[in-house]
Amino acid sequence: MKNAENISVVTNTDSANSFENEVLELVNFDTTNRPRAYANAMVRFHHPFTTKERLDAAVKAGWNVFQFPSEMLQGGDFLSDSGTTTMTAEQFAAMFLGDEAYGTNWGYQQLLDQMGETFGLNTQDYEFYFFHQCRAAEHALFSHMKGDNLIVPNNSFFDTTRANAEANKIDARDLIYEDLKDDPNHPFKGNIHLENLEKLLAGHGSRVPLAYLTITNNTGGGQPVSMENIKAAKKICDKYDKPLFLDACRFAENAYFIQQREEGYKDKKIADIVRQEFAQADGFTISLKKDGLANMGGVLAVRKDSSLMKRYPTLLNDLRDHQILVEGHPTYGGLTGRDIMTINEGLKTVTQEHYLQGRVEQVQRFGNYLHELGIPVVRPFGGHAVYIDIDKFFEDTDMERGDFGGIALSGLLLLKGIRLCELGTFAFGQYDPKTGKETFPTHNYLRCAIPRNKYEEQDLKYAAECIKELYDRRHDIPKAVPTFGRDLSLRHFKARFELV
Ligand SMILES: Cc1ncc(COP(=O)(O)O)c(C=O)c1O
Repeated sequence: MKNAENISVVTNTDSANSFENEVLELVNFDTTNRPRAYANAMVRFHHPFTTKERLDAAVKAGWNVFQFPSEMLQGGDFLSDSGTTTMTAEQFAAMFLGDEAYGTNWGYQQLLDQMGETFGLNTQDYEFYFFHQCRAAEHALFSHMKGDNLIVPNNSFFDTTRANAEANKIDARDLIYEDLKDDPNHPFKGNIHLENLEKLLAGHGSRVPLAYLTITNNTGGGQPVSMENIKAAKKICDKYDKPLFLDACRFAENAYFIQQREEGYKDKKIADIVRQEFAQADGFTISLKKDGLANMGGVLAVRKDSSLMKRYPTLLNDLRDHQILVEGHPTYGGLTGRDIMTINEGLKTVTQEHYLQGRVEQVQRFGNYLHELGIPVVRPFGGHAVYIDIDKFFEDTDMERGDFGGIALSGLLLLKGIRLCELGTFAFGQYDPKTGKETFPTHNYLRCAIPRNKYEEQDLKYAAECIKELYDRRHDIPKAVPTFGRDLSLRHFKARFELV
């Protein structure tokens, strides 16, 4: 009897196993498409504006994309990936639990704990200063770097970081491998130039209060920095007793590239790679509007034992005073209790492999659509944006650099409900009213930044198709003539144009 029971159990298990195997075998195939890592929990419908209505709005805005009403952008708003993330249901739910107490709201301790967890930090070793966004954190840091003729090196400064350094008379120096800029295959185009970093510290170390490393490097759409490069930069900084700070806005996207592209990291978890990144840093600034997956927030973190304190012994207290003067109490800084809760949740989501894979692959796919349609784009694509090379776009036309073709192209795309951002001869050029001459940057790009968790494939294909249509009509694209603000600082935010 006992034996018979045993036999019948074995038989059932066998047939169940063989059924399972058959079924599993049936669906054992690969697909070229992958489902998104999320499903929509909330949507906002577009009001159907006409092209003529958009034309009127573009003229009223002086063809300045920043002044164009966002509700008219049915085709996709690719102006920035910063603060434009669609939040998760967990973030919205957490918002309701936000504690708006003036001191030590209950989300504050959670935020410290979550940063400790995500970044792998012992939070006791750091001072954290919360700001409404990263540029306020940069302003705090650089306005306390006292001294003459200071130099701060970086792989490439983001524009507000540079502006904050320069506003404090600091020479903000980009140390990138220039020869990699046009290489379409290099996996880590964001790397800091190690030899030049060492040369600078050996020759002018006394003028360098700290070195910075921007991960990913925003220039070129978020080009990654390898772990090898981060570690080597740290070693050089240690040799000259200099602190290394991260501009860590896109720390998770950088970790994803390390996992995918760097030898020895394929089997490592994103969460561990992130912790390795932060382990190299004496401090960091971060905009939580990017890989914090939040709509607002910035942090400055400084290790209490950093060599920066030898140079500026009262720095930690000075920064605290600064924060209290311009933002708020140290336990909330520039953030509401609700913001803090969204950040706590965002920092949990951002290191999840399926989120990151979907995020970065979407950007890569968009770049490939454009590339396959023949649009000149900067390659390899970065983690958050794809850049169109405007000089190459208009190469065989009579468009000169001073005709601001990038402005004209972005203006026409507004009429199709698409918003991109010119980062080229207008944004980074300079006008001298005395000579009437413009000086231009080396690169002339139009940036398509992809907001996180916002758009679907058909949105990206629509945008790519519109860009291709205008590429085919590039000889007919009008020139953009500035009618206001040509001579202003940060002129791309304020200027007005006519298309002629
Ligand atoms: C690399 C980098 N650093 C700093 C900032 C500034 O952050 P925020 O917009 O929060 O001031 C940005 C914003 O785009 C950035 O990309």
